[in-house]
Amino acid sequence: MTYAHITGWGMAVPERVLTNQDLEKMVDTSDEWIISRTGIKERRIASDNETTASLAIQAALKALKVSNITPAEVELIIVATSSPEYIFPATASIVQDQLGAVRAGAFDILAACSGFIYALNMATQAIRSGSAQNALVIGSETLSRIVDWTDRNTCVLFGDGAGAFILQAGEQRAGLLSATMRSDGSGGDLLWLPGGGSRFPTSADTVNQGLHFVKMNGREVFRFATRVMVKSTQEVVRKAQLSMDDIDVVIPHQANKRIIESAIRSLNIPMDRCVLNIDRFGNTSTASIPIATCEAIAEGRLNPGDHTVFVGFGAGLTWGAAVVRWSGPFPGLYVMRPPVYHFYARIRSILKRILRKIDAIIWGRYHPDN
Ligand code: UT7
Repeated sequence: MTYAHITGWGMAVPERVLTNQDLEKMVDTSDEWIISRTGIKERRIASDNETTASLAIQAALKALKVSNITPAEVELIIVATSSPEYIFPATASIVQDQLGAVRAGAFDILAACSGFIYALNMATQAIRSGSAQNALVIGSETLSRIVDWTDRNTCVLFGDGAGAFILQAGEQRAGLLSATMRSDGSGGDLLWLPGGGSRFPTSADTVNQGLHFVKMNGREVFRFATRVMVKSTQEVVRKAQLSMDDIDVVIPHQANKRIIESAIRSLNIPMDRCVLNIDRFGNTSTASIPIATCEAIAEGRLNPGDHTVFVGFGAGLTWGAAVVRWSGPFPGLYVMRPPVYHFYARIRSILKRILRKIDAIIWGRYHPDN
């Protein structure tokens, strides 16, 4: 039987830090309110030249290095994001081009903060069915670009960052052992970004009404979140034929410390088995679980053979959870140089664009606007 081992991981966060004290100068809030209601002390904010794709690429390069596979070997790239580079093309295609992953199929998943769990499950299914030998799964966000910095209900919560996993086919029982993915679209307007789609196409009116910013009913999302985190964790642990005592580490979506503590209490899991880094990064949506995983590994909290639960929820409404048996990288044959591959991929991409233009000029298809 084939399993999808997680053999590489990497994270990337912007250098710029926005503290609660900085926010006190921007909106009517206080450090005390934000810490006591959310657990957040600071978050990272992308600089002008950082985007969802650029953070995704940085995280992916680190994951490739850990897993010892070259970009040219990657067969599938899935980017989960709520703040894509464009509506289309997919952010995953930009990542594919800039990494030089010339054999990979690439697409985005939009399941908001649950997106990384959805993507991990989809990539695992592709590997277990034999349609791909490996996959690159990324959660990446620049939520700072879609947050209304005058709305204290939302702007204190979110941050930017990216996390990536490499999955590879292996025969030993490891990787994702069970998963659940759920949705309740009746709660779509509890957390949404209404403007810019086909329902409210961009116009002067949508801009004036602030429809291109995140809107949220925090209290209702809070109630929903505590309920589904408990239920979905219990479901995946049962499906993996394990008990809560077998779970070494819980890595929840970092949306609110109070939501996490309430869920962990209801599950009767000691709090020291739960990874919490919301104080330093805020809510990075799809990136929060892989970033927390990278930190847990760096701190020696997640080791081969350990069982971990990933659990998340978000807009949609969507929610999901997975049980993963941790393994680690396969032995590598080569010295990996991901930054070198990235450099050549960028040159190749520029050359391809130039050649495409020359071809169009020669055959009379060229138009300066296209
Ligand atoms: O990835 C999923 C994303 N979303 C979430 O997970 C959000 C889930 N919800 C939450 O985390 C919490 O509901 C919030 C942190 C958003 C809000 O905390 P709360 O304890 O539910 O506060 P609340 O919405 O009940 O508001 C309490 C008060 C209100 O004032 P009034 O109406 O009682 O006078 C708010 O206007 O706190 C006020 N408030 C603030 N005060 C200072 C709301 N935001 C702020 C703020 N600073 N930033």
